[in-house]
Amino acid sequence: MVLFTVTWKETTPFEGQKPGTSGLRKKVTVFKQPNYLHNFVQSTFNALSADKVKGATIVVSGDGRYFSKDAIQIIIKMAAANGVRRIWVGQNGLLSTPAVSAVIRERVGADGSKATGAFILTASHNPGGPHEDFGIKYNMENGGPAPEAITDKIFANTKIIKEYLLAEDLLDVDISVIGVSSFDGPEGPFDVEVFDSTTDYVKLMKTIFDFESIQKLLACPKFTFCYDALHGVAGIYAKRIFVEELGANESSLMNCTPKEDFGGGHPDPNLTYAKELVARMGLSKSGSQGEPPEFGAAADGDADRNMILGKRFFVTPSDSVAIIAANAVEAIPYFSSGLKGVARSMPTSAALDVVAKNLNLKFFEVPTGWKFFGNLMDAGLCSICGEESFGTGSDHIREKDGIWAVLAWLSILAYRNKDKLDGDKLVTVEDIVLQHWATYGRHYYTRYDYENVDAGAAKELMEHLVNLQSSLPDVNKIIKEIRPDVSSVVQADEFEYKDPVDGSISKHQGIRYLFEDGSRLVFRLSGTGSVGATIRVYIEQYEKDPMKTGRDSQEALAPLVAVAIKLSKMQEFTGRSAPTVIT
Ligand code: G6P
Ligand code: ZN
Repeated sequence: MVLFTVTWKETTPFEGQKPGTSGLRKKVTVFKQPNYLHNFVQSTFNALSADKVKGATIVVSGDGRYFSKDAIQIIIKMAAANGVRRIWVGQNGLLSTPAVSAVIRERVGADGSKATGAFILTASHNPGGPHEDFGIKYNMENGGPAPEAITDKIFANTKIIKEYLLAEDLLDVDISVIGVSSFDGPEGPFDVEVFDSTTDYVKLMKTIFDFESIQKLLACPKFTFCYDALHGVAGIYAKRIFVEELGANESSLMNCTPKEDFGGGHPDPNLTYAKELVARMGLSKSGSQGEPPEFGAAADGDADRNMILGKRFFVTPSDSVAIIAANAVEAIPYFSSGLKGVARSMPTSAALDVVAKNLNLKFFEVPTGWKFFGNLMDAGLCSICGEESFGTGSDHIREKDGIWAVLAWLSILAYRNKDKLDGDKLVTVEDIVLQHWATYGRHYYTRYDYENVDAGAAKELMEHLVNLQSSLPDVNKIIKEIRPDVSSVVQADEFEYKDPVDGSISKHQGIRYLFEDGSRLVFRLSGTGSVGATIRVYIEQYEKDPMKTGRDSQEALAPLVAVAIKLSKMQEFTGRSAPTVIT
């Protein structure tokens, strides 16, 4: 046993350590200030009940971005000093966010121990590297992000912190090697266990999906596949699951070696940032190189997001969750006894609503942020949920899950093609989506992002939109002036949500303009950026007539887009004549 001592270190508070939707995200340069991370970690320990710290087992890992390795050693030393019994670390400090959730819920240590929480080190889809973002968030015993009651407490603690506990003389643990390092401190033994980052997650996936049927699909020469991890942590799961378990060709993996700076890219799986995949799938404006694969997908840095593509075909995340929900019972063994309910975030299109109505399923519309789904799932009210922001998942864990979404789509494709593998033509991703639209109608959908806008200007724009809501005649006058072809706004509000499980109320969750024909315009400020403000405009139009569901989406939505820009006075407030990203 290696002995360590505990020191009380003096510190002073830092401003702005308020954890956002998904933890604390700042530039690495901010995190590297002496005591900055320490203050946040101690404030977290102080916010948890004593039994979740003293003698507890806590997971620490993340997407492997720059500064993670330093942060892991710091957290280990602080955990030891705070009386934590055991720290579990994924090999090389790597665990995807969904894998952390799975580890908390499923992993049992050699002595029967279970984790009660986790520090997840990630800034999700934000770029990484010495001048980019780092992030940290705490997840609870159910595997989901800490609820607001805890994050508020953490924030309050960061404002008054005077000291933190550190096992300064604890030697650094080699996190590249699987095994247990044991230490002895003033409060007894302390272990750091480094374990394989993929085993627990893969085991869980195998209980959900029929791997054999997916394997058959991937073995069919007519079915071609590719997966882009954008240099994030998804790569290690993709290798293990798609190649080793399911037999996909190694060459179908793109950017599947995790890098601290994500290869200098922006690890966000959308049509703008997943450039290489978009080109390979034949969706690039500059044309394709050769015949694109039948199926392509990508993940973000911490592998909770996903983008699904067919050959020359983009599946919107809003359609994706609706299609998974519509097919889950038949195609995915985990759901074979039926769905408890489905849910989407407010700005996500109403495609899921139509499925829920047709299949007579419980349905919930929640504010943006995965945590709102967690409560529904814990209460047994929701099986499948999704967000327009490329997040899809189910109650198998309490985070969204990028690899799960790909396996769900592969399961649907495998199911639809089970009698066709020897025939001439397979049912494609595009066929599945077109059939879905023919049955349920289509929600044309697009999102315009204005990134890194001056925070004051963004606030003013939002205030202007709230004020505008008080007079619908004025709103409709503006609309008719520029686009007489757009229907009228019949209702406008700021979205407010009452959690049906705990009764808590969340206000100011986005501004909605609802049109007579079912179209919607939604405006929101992003809660995940780290510099300035990001304004998101969500534009949606429902088309029930099967003869009219095949239009180009940007073309179909052009009139509503024009109205959105005009109503919000986008250019006047922000100086921007075009969005940074369109998805
Ligand atoms: C994170 C959360 C998602 C949420 C998204 C919204 O990814 O986990 O639940 O939808 O952020 O991001 P935004 O930047 O729009 O606030
Ligand atoms: Zn993420």
